[in-house]
Amino acid sequence: MRIDVLTIFPEMFPCWLGSSILKHTIEKGLVDIKVHNIRDYTHDRHHTVDDYPYGGGAGMIFKPEPVFKTVEAVKSTITDERVLPIIMLTPQGRLFTQQVAGELSAHRNMLLICGRYEGVDARVHEHLVTDEISIGDYVLSGGELAAMVVMESVIRLLPGVLGSEDSALEDSHVAGLLEYPQYTRPPEYRGWKVPEVLLSGNHAQIAAWRREQAIRRTLERRPELLEKAKLTTKERELVESLKNR
Ligand SMILES: C[S@@+](CC[C@H](N)C(=O)[O-])C[C@H]1O[C@@H](n2cnc3c(N)ncnc32)[C@H](O)[C@@H]1O
Repeated sequence: MRIDVLTIFPEMFPCWLGSSILKHTIEKGLVDIKVHNIRDYTHDRHHTVDDYPYGGGAGMIFKPEPVFKTVEAVKSTITDERVLPIIMLTPQGRLFTQQVAGELSAHRNMLLICGRYEGVDARVHEHLVTDEISIGDYVLSGGELAAMVVMESVIRLLPGVLGSEDSALEDSHVAGLLEYPQYTRPPEYRGWKVPEVLLSGNHAQIAAWRREQAIRRTLERRPELLEKAKLTTKERELVESLKNR
């Protein structure tokens, strides 16, 4: 997958790109991330990307021209443009979820635009971008961290990125439930023991225990997720009995 990121703060990306899973994924050639400085597509001496809002009001607004020019320059270097999502990070976009990450991971390319200031000229939203994504109902100072959040969750879904494909499948939110509790050695720490079943070596019992724990945990912490989760009749009965306790 190739991902192009448009920003006026490209210096925010190298440390993140050079760490952990992402570093190895890039080295393995599974993803190619290109960060573009929108200021490089301005023509004045000060590389101006913002201006005052028409009608007055606080703050500055991203001018349309540098954003259009950067997107057009990037698009001209992408050979396979079959469906190129041009995504604006904005608190006004659709909410980013694991499902949206899955949807985006099916694309060969994606282009992410990081806003700053009070936002971006509305013509960019209306005539350039094809999707708008918010990472949550709060306001950041810029789209860079939001772009990293989107990229990181999309990239870990790409085939070959994680050591075991199963680890992504069992993550919280993937099957509509939160993940079950996890333990590692030692079997007893400060008197707190790892549940016996996990040491039993009985894979069927372990799977059943984990499934039940995932349901219990989801009911406790995010009960609204259970409405959409795929549960068997027996599991629905378990939820009802837990609710009535
Ligand atoms: C200070 S915000 C602008 C908020 C804008 N005035 C509004 O009320 O919608 C500056 C930039 O940060 C990014 N941003 C802020 N919050 C975000 C969120 N929750 N999700 C994604 N991007 C966000 C966007 O790119 C936005 O253009």
